[in-house]
Amino acid sequence: MKVRELAGRTAAGSVLVTGVSSGIGRAIAVRLAEAGRLVFGTVRRREDADALAALGLPGLRPLRLDLARLERLPEVVRTVDAELARAGEPGLSALVNNAGGSLVGPVELMDLEAFATELRVRLLAALALLQAFLPSLRRAAGRVLWIATPGLLPTPYATGIHACDFAVNCIARTLAIEIGGGGPKVVLIRCGAIRTRSGMATAGDLAASLAGRPPERRALYEEKLARWARSMAELDAKRSAPERVAETVERALAAARPRSRYRVGYLSGVAGLIETLPQPLVDRLLAARG
Ligand SMILES: NC(=O)c1ccc[n+]([C@@H]2O[C@H](COP(=O)([O-])OP(=O)(O)OC[C@H]3O[C@@H](n4cnc5c(N)ncnc54)[C@H](OP(=O)(O)O)[C@@H]3O)[C@@H](O)[C@H]2O)c1
Repeated sequence: MKVRELAGRTAAGSVLVTGVSSGIGRAIAVRLAEAGRLVFGTVRRREDADALAALGLPGLRPLRLDLARLERLPEVVRTVDAELARAGEPGLSALVNNAGGSLVGPVELMDLEAFATELRVRLLAALALLQAFLPSLRRAAGRVLWIATPGLLPTPYATGIHACDFAVNCIARTLAIEIGGGGPKVVLIRCGAIRTRSGMATAGDLAASLAGRPPERRALYEEKLARWARSMAELDAKRSAPERVAETVERALAAARPRSRYRVGYLSGVAGLIETLPQPLVDRLLAARG
């Protein structure tokens, strides 16, 4: 797609996307920058910032920010505000909360430090960014998007991920009510199985997350986890491309009246459907699989 650059500034608004070094975040950042938007994308490592800069997209601005730590957040806010002012933008048109890892394993053996990091990245950082940028988002009649799971389900060995999704769902929907009536629109992008580093790494991550756990307690899960790893490997072959999520995000940003939820990717429809069933039935269905 051709970059629409107008006399040194980009058209079509500005977007801040978290976690653009790879996967869904990268696909979103690249697609929106190619469409002529001014895109601020957070990355942790310098080499990731350099790799994005090397794409030569004039609107793409990588920003270094570790979302688990956030001490650089005030500097990032100042940089974004200054760039927006330079570009003549009234404010930020969209915040896309995307960054997150892939913490897998049974609840009993969950690495609590890793879970604390995940909570900081998926929840606290998203809230901190939201609080910092809401005035700017209001000025631009902007949108807040959350990249999330397709259904709120008790998915075995994925609590590290899905507990965050339940909380994101609560925050996003409550926020929509609190700032509704003219405030920035809040949109959940509910993704099915997407082909990304985190998505595909689940079996390997599982082995790493169980290392060092007491063997007698690991043994309780060995058979189930071997079955789970096999089903994950089968799923990997069917995952959707992250570019499909980027396409959906672009649609949600372009719509005059965006929906509050969009579904995209393999299994997103069926997961959403299962979520609507009575909870005891959902639990039985998931137990039969797990
Ligand atoms: N893949 C799926 O099937 C799927 C489905 C539904 C929802 N999601 C959600 O989609 C989001 C993106 O994941 P993905 O699948 O695209 O995986 P990914 O390729 O691994 O991307 C994750 C991104 O988050 C960043 N990140 C992780 N920890 C961070 C931290 N402390 N500070 C700053 N950035 C951090 C990563 O940066 P680094 O490179 O520095 O680690 C990376 O850019 C996640 O929230 C995930 O839960 C994924």
